[in-house]
Formats: sequence, structure tokens, C-alpha cells
Amino acid sequence: MELIDSHAHITCDQLYDRIDEVINNAVEAKVARILVVCTDFVSYERALQLHHDKITFDLALGFHPCDLNEFNEESYERFEQILKDGKLVALGEIGLDYHWDTVQREVQKEGFIRQLKLADAYKLPVIIHMRDATQDTLDILAEHANTKFLLHCFSASKEVAQVIMKMGGYISFAGPITFKNAKGLQEVPQVCDMNRILVETDCPYLAPHPYRGKQNEVKYVTSTFSKVASLLEIEELELEKTMKDTYLNFIGQ
Ligand code: NI
Repeated sequence: MELIDSHAHITCDQLYDRIDEVINNAVEAKVARILVVCTDFVSYERALQLHHDKITFDLALGFHPCDLNEFNEESYERFEQILKDGKLVALGEIGLDYHWDTVQREVQKEGFIRQLKLADAYKLPVIIHMRDATQDTLDILAEHANTKFLLHCFSASKEVAQVIMKMGGYISFAGPITFKNAKGLQEVPQVCDMNRILVETDCPYLAPHPYRGKQNEVKYVTSTFSKVASLLEIEELELEKTMKDTYLNFIGQ
């Protein structure tokens, strides 16, 4: 197997404490590539140092909607410098989160749009965080997204998934699709274009069944991948190949 975890926060404090173990476990689970999603400069600097001869690490950076109060003009200047360095394959995660509502909605929208403009300027695909904010997120994407976009840890309805497919977007499934009570979410893969879906862990959060409640890590992407393959009723080998192409297509390689 040659799996890809399309969204993992392995350089966050919780996982970075045991990063060698996390990476070795991923290698053993036959994960070949990880999109390391950084939400601040510390996790980005750490991600630059990652090396393993059996795993490709791709980097993304973005200001998460729940963290926007922590960033200022200086942060955006530093972000642009990193964009100029050319080491990012994607920008994100960015978006809207009305579940926690820790940051004013207007501030979230402004930060989201500003970062979409940066993605456009540097021609990078974007990773979108959307929680309890479906309509506003889709409206902003329709108006301001000029590069490819991926709805990560998808948790909305199949109707929303269909809208995203029509808009040309990508969708990534995480642990929750494996949960026993996730009947609605489990209907989503079938309505998606096979060439525009991916899987991820979003670790350290939301470990898939049967590891629910444990600290999530990259190796558990296998559970989510198998679940999606069984929901689609296709061979795992075929899905693996398709997802690899989809991923490369998304990051433009
Ligand atoms: Ni995430």
C-alpha cells in the first residue's frame, strides 16, 4: 500500500513530542506521503526539518479561523515571506468556524478572504476548514477562490457535497466517517466524483473507529481509507491509485 494522509498536524506540540514514533508507525502502516498542516510559525519551522527516506512530507500553512485573534500585520508579513520561499504545496487550513465562535464572524470572514487572495497571488490550492458555517463558506469560495480548494474533515450533508463537486472542489474524509452513528456522512462518498476525494487523519484529533478516544496519529489513516473503499464498494488498490492521482492533481504535481 502507498497511502496518503492529506491532513495531519504532526508538528503540533502533542505529536511533536514523539515525532519519531509517529513517523515510524506511519511507515509501518505503509503511508507514503503526508500533507503536514501547520497552523503557526513554530509548527512550520518544525515541519521544515522533517525527513524520512520512505515518506514524502508536503507542507501547508494557514491561519485557522479559531486562531485569527493571535495574528497581526506582522504575522501576515512573515507569512508572505514564507510564501515567497516556495516550500508550501497548499495554503491552509483557512475558513470559517461558527461552532466555537471564539473569533468574531466578521474577523473570520476577513481573514479567510485575505488568505484566499494570498493563495491566488501565489497560485496555491487551499485547504478549507468549515464548521457550522456552510453557506457563508460556500459564498466566499464562490466569490474569492481562484485556485483549487479542498474541504477538509468533511462533515456536511451529501447535498452540500454535491454543490462542492459542482464548484470543482475536493473533499477529504477523516475519522468521523468511520463512526457507527455517522450514517448521513457515510452516504457522502457515493455522491462525489471519485477523482476528487481524499482521506486524512487530522491528527491529533478525532481518531477513527476502532481507535476512537485515543490520540490520533497518521497510521490510523488506514481505517478511514478502508471505510471509504467499502462505502464505495471498490477495491482498495484501485482507490489507493485513484487517491494518489487526485492528491497530486490537487497540489499541482
Ligand atoms: Ni486540521
